[in-house]
Amino acid sequence: MAESTSRPLQADSPTVQLPNPTGLRTTHDDACVLIIFGGAGDLSHKKLLPALYNLSLGKGLPERFAIVAFSMERLDDEGYRKFARDGIEHFSRQPLTEEGWQRFAPLLHFVSGSFNESADYRKLKERLEQIDRELATGGNHAFYFAIPPQFIDACSAEMSATGLIMPTTGNGIFTRVVVEKPIGRDLRSASEINDRLARYFSENQIFRIDHYLGKETVENLMVLRFANAIFEPVWTARFIDHIQIVVAEDEGVGSRAGYYDQAGALRDMVQSHMLQVLCMIAMEPPRATNPDAVRDSKLDVIRSLRPFDAAEAERCVVRGQYEEGLINGEKVNGYRVEEHIPPNSMTETFVALKCYIENWRWAGVPFYLRTGKRLPKRASEISIFFKGVPRILYNTRPAPPLAQNVLSIRIQPDEGLSLNIISKLPGAPLRLAPVRVDFRNVTASPEAYETLLRDIMSGDQTLFMRRDTVEAAWRFVENILDAWSTSMTAPFPYAAGSWGPTEAAVMIAKDGRAWRTP
Ligand code: BG6
Repeated sequence: MAESTSRPLQADSPTVQLPNPTGLRTTHDDACVLIIFGGAGDLSHKKLLPALYNLSLGKGLPERFAIVAFSMERLDDEGYRKFARDGIEHFSRQPLTEEGWQRFAPLLHFVSGSFNESADYRKLKERLEQIDRELATGGNHAFYFAIPPQFIDACSAEMSATGLIMPTTGNGIFTRVVVEKPIGRDLRSASEINDRLARYFSENQIFRIDHYLGKETVENLMVLRFANAIFEPVWTARFIDHIQIVVAEDEGVGSRAGYYDQAGALRDMVQSHMLQVLCMIAMEPPRATNPDAVRDSKLDVIRSLRPFDAAEAERCVVRGQYEEGLINGEKVNGYRVEEHIPPNSMTETFVALKCYIENWRWAGVPFYLRTGKRLPKRASEISIFFKGVPRILYNTRPAPPLAQNVLSIRIQPDEGLSLNIISKLPGAPLRLAPVRVDFRNVTASPEAYETLLRDIMSGDQTLFMRRDTVEAAWRFVENILDAWSTSMTAPFPYAAGSWGPTEAAVMIAKDGRAWRTP
């Protein structure tokens, strides 16, 4: 296929400053303290502290700001700063510089404590009061639960008993709470977690993270669709044949066996990240850019998904589990011999499914979703396959039909989009060939956690999941889980380094289509 590369967006291209979408949104200058429960854990080390450091480099933190880690380790402020520095050295998007570190290090504080110990919460409160006084934060606090979900309830109860949770009173002082996935493992457990959170916090204080929503390219989907005139008119069943969403990882289960073997790819990736991406692609234009309008439109998509019954789950959902194979020429183990994975595990590490959105825009258009671990490479992308042109003029029989136009949006790692179009090859005789117009984003994008942390501090909930959306997503996925538990069939094996079990290729081939290789 011929390829032409478009000019990347220039730094001096005209940009549009969006107005502040909500009256509720606090200004970015609001002083605040970010309290990280589990601040000495893996998530903090690899993601949160590096993201905060990058925000600090880009002047993306409030001027009066502090980070307090609350965790069981026996560390003091100095010990914690060493821990943070190590995380930043290894995982930061931008390299650690002495100048940057000297500015960032003083923001870090550590309170050693147990999540079940009331006295430790009092210690935390005293420390916060002292920092609030020194920085004149007014008592603005964002609590980040970087802890296993089973602790959330106890932590919220202790925080409440210690007087750490301020109700939203409209006086501008905030207490916010940030919750990571997994939010439950089915509808019932998710509702329980949400009920418990609701005992202590109102919905506008709760920031449920799905880090895919913080990815630059995912956020850009709405801009692509609703800030350009050319896409929306053709973004319907009338012009679109089908849509594929793939989130492929070359990594295996790694060190997360305990969690992953209980979850599997459907819960881990489809219920959250993939359905969120599906929403961004399929949603109706929201009535405004404010958080609730955007989240209402997304919720409509999930509620319009045609529910699976057992027969349809059997026909339209394929699950797989990786076996030994080669990734980048290196031999890797099969799932069942990974550390801490039971040798008879039935957990799926791959899911491919076909679903339908039953509304006027999308009636009859299949959405194919595919995700898995130990696939040939790490690549996430969305491909919109447009319907072919009529079999006349350049597309006459008996020649095979012209290739469809495909708009492919690359979420990661190579951010950008491409459009396959049919073009005339130069010269005579007349020959047609697909060419690819490609746009690559060459500007360094912030990491998802940078975007999300910034939004938490400024109080913008647009990129966070509302309770109703999380529960609707579980309702959809639960039908598949039920069908699997009734059928008791094992996942299909696939070799690590392949694109999943052949059954996934067969499923889409039955519709006369094929998976697009990223
Ligand atoms: C997490 C899943 O939410 O997302 C992991 O629990 C997965 O299993 C990860 O590897 C993928 O995120 P990313 O940003 O690397 O695509």
